Amino acid sequence: MKHLLVAPSLLACDLSRVAEEVADAVAGGADRLHFDVMDGVFVPNLTFGPALCAAVRRHTSVPLDAHLMVADPDPLVAPFAAAGTNLLSVHVETVRHLHRTLTAIREAGMRPGVALNPATSLATLEEVWTWCDFILLMTVNPGFGGQSFIPDCYDKLRRLRALADQKGWPGEIAVDGGVDAGNASRLKDLGADVLVAGTAVFGQGDRRRAIAALRGDV
Ligand code: DX5
Ligand code: ZN
Repeated sequence: MKHLLVAPSLLACDLSRVAEEVADAVAGGADRLHFDVMDGVFVPNLTFGPALCAAVRRHTSVPLDAHLMVADPDPLVAPFAAAGTNLLSVHVETVRHLHRTLTAIREAGMRPGVALNPATSLATLEEVWTWCDFILLMTVNPGFGGQSFIPDCYDKLRRLRALADQKGWPGEIAVDGGVDAGNASRLKDLGADVLVAGTAVFGQGDRRRAIAALRGDV
Protein backbone atom coordinates (compact mmCIF):
# COMPACT_ATOMS: atom_id res chain seq x y z
CA MET A 1 0.00 0.00 0.00
CA LYS A 2 1.38 3.36 -1.01
CA HIS A 3 2.10 5.84 1.76
CA LEU A 4 -0.24 8.84 1.50
CA LEU A 5 1.83 12.01 1.47
CA VAL A 6 0.70 15.12 3.32
CA ALA A 7 1.88 18.56 2.22
CA PRO A 8 0.83 21.32 4.62
CA SER A 9 0.27 24.68 2.90
CA LEU A 10 2.12 27.56 4.52
CA LEU A 11 -0.66 29.89 3.38
CA ALA A 12 -2.50 28.90 6.56
CA CYS A 13 0.43 29.19 8.97
CA ASP A 14 1.44 32.16 11.10
CA LEU A 15 3.95 33.74 8.73
CA SER A 16 5.38 35.91 11.48
CA ARG A 17 6.64 32.67 13.07
CA VAL A 18 7.34 30.70 9.94
CA ALA A 19 10.43 28.83 11.21
CA GLU A 20 8.54 27.53 14.25
CA GLU A 21 5.49 26.66 12.16
CA VAL A 22 7.64 24.72 9.70
CA ALA A 23 9.47 22.90 12.50
CA ASP A 24 6.15 21.97 14.08
CA ALA A 25 4.72 20.61 10.81
CA VAL A 26 7.88 18.68 10.00
CA ALA A 27 8.07 17.22 13.49
CA GLY A 28 4.41 16.30 13.08
CA GLY A 29 5.14 14.24 9.98
CA ALA A 30 4.78 16.61 7.00
CA ASP A 31 6.19 14.93 3.90
CA ARG A 32 6.70 18.17 2.00
CA LEU A 33 5.80 21.84 2.40
CA HIS A 34 3.42 23.56 -0.03
CA PHE A 35 3.90 27.22 -0.99
CA ASP A 36 0.92 29.00 -2.58
CA VAL A 37 2.44 31.65 -4.79
CA MET A 38 -0.17 34.18 -5.97
CA ASP A 39 0.37 37.24 -8.12
CA GLY A 40 -2.92 39.14 -7.79
CA VAL A 41 -3.47 38.67 -11.55
CA PHE A 42 -4.09 34.99 -12.22
CA VAL A 43 -5.84 34.83 -8.86
CA PRO A 44 -7.32 37.70 -6.83
CA ASN A 45 -4.80 37.46 -4.00
CA LEU A 46 -1.16 38.27 -3.46
CA THR A 47 1.15 36.15 -1.33
CA PHE A 48 4.86 35.42 -1.44
CA GLY A 49 7.64 34.40 -3.80
CA PRO A 50 10.94 32.52 -3.88
CA ALA A 51 12.35 34.50 -0.94
CA LEU A 52 10.08 32.59 1.42
CA CYS A 53 11.22 29.23 -0.02
CA ALA A 54 14.84 30.31 0.41
CA ALA A 55 14.18 31.31 4.02
CA VAL A 56 12.40 28.06 4.84
CA ARG A 57 15.06 26.02 3.03
CA ARG A 58 17.54 27.14 5.67
CA HIS A 59 15.40 25.52 8.37
CA THR A 60 14.45 22.15 6.90
CA SER A 61 15.48 19.46 4.48
CA VAL A 62 11.93 18.29 3.55
CA PRO A 63 10.99 18.84 -0.10
CA LEU A 64 9.57 22.28 -0.90
CA ASP A 65 6.63 22.31 -3.31
CA ALA A 66 5.76 25.66 -4.91
CA HIS A 67 2.36 26.05 -6.58
CA LEU A 68 2.53 28.98 -8.98
CA MET A 69 -0.83 30.73 -9.34
CA VAL A 70 0.64 33.46 -11.51
CA ALA A 71 -0.12 34.74 -14.99
CA ASP A 72 3.45 34.37 -16.21
CA PRO A 73 5.41 31.62 -14.47
CA ASP A 74 8.38 31.39 -16.86
CA PRO A 75 10.51 34.15 -15.28
CA LEU A 76 10.03 32.50 -11.87
CA VAL A 77 11.50 29.09 -12.75
CA ALA A 78 15.14 30.04 -12.16
CA PRO A 79 14.50 32.02 -8.94
CA PHE A 80 12.53 29.14 -7.41
CA ALA A 81 15.26 26.67 -8.35
CA ALA A 82 17.86 28.95 -6.79
CA ALA A 83 15.73 29.14 -3.63
CA GLY A 84 16.02 25.37 -3.16
CA THR A 85 12.52 24.45 -4.35
CA ASN A 86 12.11 20.76 -5.23
CA LEU A 87 8.71 20.61 -6.92
CA LEU A 88 7.20 23.36 -9.06
CA SER A 89 3.70 23.33 -10.49
CA VAL A 90 2.19 25.67 -13.06
CA HIS A 91 -1.41 26.11 -14.16
CA VAL A 92 -2.43 24.74 -17.54
CA GLU A 93 -4.89 27.65 -17.86
CA THR A 94 -2.16 30.29 -18.04
CA VAL A 95 0.97 28.76 -19.56
CA ARG A 96 1.22 29.42 -23.28
CA HIS A 97 3.93 26.89 -24.11
CA LEU A 98 3.50 24.17 -21.56
CA HIS A 99 6.15 21.84 -22.97
CA ARG A 100 8.73 24.61 -22.85
CA THR A 101 7.87 25.59 -19.28
CA LEU A 102 7.79 22.03 -17.92
CA THR A 103 11.08 21.25 -19.65
CA ALA A 104 12.64 24.38 -18.18
CA ILE A 105 11.49 23.33 -14.69
CA ARG A 106 13.07 19.90 -15.10
CA GLU A 107 16.27 21.31 -16.55
CA ALA A 108 16.49 23.64 -13.56
CA GLY A 109 16.60 20.53 -11.35
CA MET A 110 13.01 20.55 -10.05
CA ARG A 111 10.11 18.13 -10.52
CA PRO A 112 7.52 19.67 -12.86
CA GLY A 113 3.82 19.57 -12.03
CA VAL A 114 0.68 20.66 -13.83
CA ALA A 115 -2.19 22.26 -11.88
CA LEU A 116 -5.78 22.14 -13.11
CA ASN A 117 -8.60 24.38 -11.96
CA PRO A 118 -11.92 22.72 -11.07
CA ALA A 119 -13.47 23.86 -14.36
CA THR A 120 -10.57 22.69 -16.52
CA SER A 121 -11.08 19.47 -18.43
CA LEU A 122 -8.83 16.46 -17.90
CA ALA A 123 -8.58 16.40 -21.70
CA THR A 124 -6.00 19.20 -21.40
CA LEU A 125 -3.60 16.57 -20.03
CA GLU A 126 -3.70 14.44 -23.14
CA GLU A 127 -0.37 15.64 -24.58
CA VAL A 128 1.19 16.46 -21.25
CA TRP A 129 1.46 13.25 -19.21
CA THR A 130 5.05 12.40 -20.00
CA TRP A 131 6.27 15.95 -19.38
CA CYS A 132 5.22 16.17 -15.75
CA ASP A 133 5.92 14.26 -12.55
CA PHE A 134 2.72 15.21 -10.79
CA ILE A 135 -0.73 16.64 -11.35
CA LEU A 136 -2.17 19.08 -8.85
CA LEU A 137 -5.92 18.70 -9.02
CA MET A 138 -7.53 21.84 -7.63
CA THR A 139 -10.61 21.06 -5.62
CA VAL A 140 -11.42 24.72 -4.89
CA ASN A 141 -11.04 27.75 -7.14
CA PRO A 142 -7.49 28.88 -6.45
CA GLY A 143 -6.80 32.12 -4.64
CA PHE A 144 -7.66 31.55 -1.00
CA GLY A 145 -7.20 29.07 1.79
CA GLY A 146 -10.07 27.86 3.92
CA GLN A 147 -12.59 27.30 1.12
CA SER A 148 -14.97 24.35 0.90
CA PHE A 149 -14.11 21.33 -1.22
CA ILE A 150 -16.14 21.31 -4.46
CA PRO A 151 -17.97 17.93 -4.38
CA ASP A 152 -17.93 17.47 -8.19
CA CYS A 153 -14.16 17.05 -7.86
CA TYR A 154 -14.55 13.58 -6.31
CA ASP A 155 -15.63 12.20 -9.65
CA LYS A 156 -12.96 14.18 -11.46
CA LEU A 157 -10.32 12.61 -9.21
CA ARG A 158 -11.74 9.16 -9.91
CA ARG A 159 -11.54 9.79 -13.65
CA LEU A 160 -8.02 11.23 -13.37
CA ARG A 161 -6.84 8.15 -11.46
CA ALA A 162 -8.38 5.87 -14.08
CA LEU A 163 -6.69 7.76 -16.92
CA ALA A 164 -3.33 7.73 -15.17
CA ASP A 165 -3.57 3.99 -14.47
CA GLN A 166 -4.71 3.24 -17.99
CA LYS A 167 -1.63 5.00 -19.32
CA GLY A 168 0.65 3.41 -16.73
CA TRP A 169 1.70 6.93 -15.76
CA PRO A 170 4.22 6.75 -12.89
CA GLY A 171 3.58 10.25 -11.50
CA GLU A 172 1.69 11.45 -8.46
CA ILE A 173 -1.80 12.84 -8.17
CA ALA A 174 -2.04 15.62 -5.59
CA VAL A 175 -5.32 17.13 -4.40
CA ASP A 176 -5.39 20.76 -3.27
CA GLY A 177 -8.17 22.78 -1.65
CA GLY A 178 -10.67 22.09 1.11
CA VAL A 179 -8.95 18.86 2.12
CA ASP A 180 -9.71 17.91 5.71
CA ALA A 181 -9.98 14.92 8.01
CA GLY A 182 -13.57 14.44 6.88
CA ASN A 183 -12.81 13.87 3.19
CA ALA A 184 -9.20 12.62 3.27
CA SER A 185 -9.96 8.90 3.34
CA ARG A 186 -12.36 9.25 0.43
CA LEU A 187 -9.70 11.14 -1.54
CA LYS A 188 -7.18 8.42 -0.77
CA ASP A 189 -9.61 5.71 -1.88
CA LEU A 190 -10.26 7.60 -5.11
CA GLY A 191 -6.56 7.55 -5.88
CA ALA A 192 -4.87 10.63 -4.43
CA ASP A 193 -1.17 10.18 -3.65
CA VAL A 194 -0.66 13.56 -1.99
CA LEU A 195 -3.00 15.67 0.11
CA VAL A 196 -2.26 19.39 0.25
CA ALA A 197 -3.88 20.92 3.32
CA GLY A 198 -3.61 24.38 4.82
CA THR A 199 -6.39 24.96 7.34
CA ALA A 200 -6.64 21.27 8.25
CA VAL A 201 -3.02 21.36 9.46
CA PHE A 202 -2.04 24.90 10.48
CA GLY A 203 -5.54 25.75 11.67
CA GLN A 204 -5.24 22.99 14.26
CA GLY A 205 -3.37 23.26 17.54
CA ASP A 206 -1.81 19.80 17.38
CA ARG A 207 -0.17 19.44 13.98
CA ARG A 208 0.99 15.88 14.54
CA ARG A 209 -2.55 14.83 15.27
CA ALA A 210 -3.89 16.86 12.34
CA ILE A 211 -1.49 15.20 9.88
CA ALA A 212 -2.20 11.75 11.32
CA ALA A 213 -5.94 12.42 10.94
CA LEU A 214 -5.44 13.25 7.25
CA ARG A 215 -3.54 10.00 6.77
CA GLY A 216 -6.27 8.09 8.55
CA ASP A 217 -3.89 7.06 11.32
CA VAL A 218 -6.08 8.26 14.21
C1 DX5 B 1 -5.70 27.58 -2.95
C2 DX5 B 1 -4.36 26.98 -2.61
C3 DX5 B 1 -4.43 25.86 -1.62
C4 DX5 B 1 -4.90 26.31 -0.27
C5 DX5 B 1 -5.30 25.16 0.56
O1 DX5 B 1 -5.52 28.61 -3.84
O2 DX5 B 1 -3.76 26.46 -3.78
O3 DX5 B 1 -3.16 25.22 -1.52
O4 DX5 B 1 -3.93 27.03 0.41
O5 DX5 B 1 -5.84 25.66 1.73
P1 DX5 B 1 -6.99 24.89 2.49
O6 DX5 B 1 -6.45 23.53 2.81
O7 DX5 B 1 -7.26 25.73 3.67
O8 DX5 B 1 -8.16 24.79 1.53
ZN1 ZN C 1 -1.88 25.20 -3.51
